[in-house]
Amino acid sequence: MGMKRVCTGFLCLLTVLILSSSVQLCDGGITSNYVRKYNSNVDMPLNSDVFRVPPGYNAPHQVYITQGDLEGKGVIVSWTTPDEPGSNSVLYWAENSNVKSSAEGFVVSYKYYNYTSGYIHHCTIKDLEFDAKYYYEVGLGNTTRQFWFVTPPKPGPDVPYTFGLIGDLGQTYDSNSTLTHYELNPLKGQTILFVGDLSYADNYPFHNNIRWDTWGRFIERSAAYQPWIWTAGNHELDFVPEIGESKPFVPYKHRFSTPYRASDSTSPLWYSIKRASAYIIVMSSYSAFGTYTPQWKWLKNELPKVNRSETPWLIVLMHCPMYSSYVHHYMEGETMRVMYEPWFVNYKVDVVFAGHVHAYERSERVSNVAYNIINRKCSPVRDESAPVYITIGDGGNQEGLATEMTQPQPRYSAYREASFGHGILDIKNRTHAYFGWHRNDDGYAVEADSLWLLNRYWKLEEPSVALS
Ligand SMILES: [Fe+2]
Repeated sequence: MGMKRVCTGFLCLLTVLILSSSVQLCDGGITSNYVRKYNSNVDMPLNSDVFRVPPGYNAPHQVYITQGDLEGKGVIVSWTTPDEPGSNSVLYWAENSNVKSSAEGFVVSYKYYNYTSGYIHHCTIKDLEFDAKYYYEVGLGNTTRQFWFVTPPKPGPDVPYTFGLIGDLGQTYDSNSTLTHYELNPLKGQTILFVGDLSYADNYPFHNNIRWDTWGRFIERSAAYQPWIWTAGNHELDFVPEIGESKPFVPYKHRFSTPYRASDSTSPLWYSIKRASAYIIVMSSYSAFGTYTPQWKWLKNELPKVNRSETPWLIVLMHCPMYSSYVHHYMEGETMRVMYEPWFVNYKVDVVFAGHVHAYERSERVSNVAYNIINRKCSPVRDESAPVYITIGDGGNQEGLATEMTQPQPRYSAYREASFGHGILDIKNRTHAYFGWHRNDDGYAVEADSLWLLNRYWKLEEPSVALS
């Protein structure tokens, strides 16, 4: 081998070493160059099959469930009857059992400008067995409808569980594609963590609430069978004082129940649940959150309660992202970040999921909590106690994608792409969880971005448990 060839090889090796170290130093930072299909951003017409009203007099429609207590032995069933209140009862029975039980709920309705809602029922079923399949029935007489759900396993540190992540869904053809991709994803999400902005009914004249009804029927095919954990977004505000609607969240609060009292919250807009090995904290970006507000006080008391030996995965949901490098909504989450990022780092939150920006983005583990007005330490730095921030506002609503990104890509941004899709958080045990992002333009099993998440608490505080 000649000297020249040895030198060339050495230079190549050196170049590879420099390149690989520079990749590590610059924290990834991928802006996807994926070229997506044309998206029309049009809501599905009112006579679409996904909005079909079930047949029969006063037939229950818009049936959906959410968790009904702190630990997962409770389920809130919600449904709407169009013609008269009918029954508030839910009949339910365990799979392979002939013993039927009944739970009694309540009914509400509301007016919004010139719209009057149907009869919206909410019924909490309590004290179910963990990890069991139940059937349930709503309606009266000849017009009843049956569905089923599976309760989660008892909370515990190594209980595997799979969450779906959807945000900013709306009711376009793309929304339908997102939901279908989630349903057909072979990883089989067991519960949806929904990060806000549901129907986009407020984009219609006078916030035409008929589009809330169509949305309720659209999601029923998933939400009647597995819980959707609700987070409120700005499209849930429905605040229009000029038409007399000066109270925020009226349609949302009437239509969607949350088990907020179980976590000592005073508002359905912020609350916590345990589910399997996860402790999920839901926050409201559009309710007061400054020092001494009810939300601040609640979260201050809530975070120390989280027992990571029981639920190692600490997950926060909010609508407006704290870290986003897209131009649209840039820095809207900054006040929330300033308030709460130190708490999230201190309590070693694993992941913060948000929506609002109609795109996907995943951050590095960074924090920006050192600034004290005079020390100039105002840039995010790598921080192993910090959460990963994931924006998953790419459900497919009529406002379309947020395609414009700040340039250059900031170092805290690990991956960003403006395509519609959904996420899956697949918790394996107390130390390992796998997150994948699926874009609608790909096959159901394809992940466009993914990473292994190492639990912050168990990684930093306790010896790791080997992944089996
Ligand atoms: Fe939003």
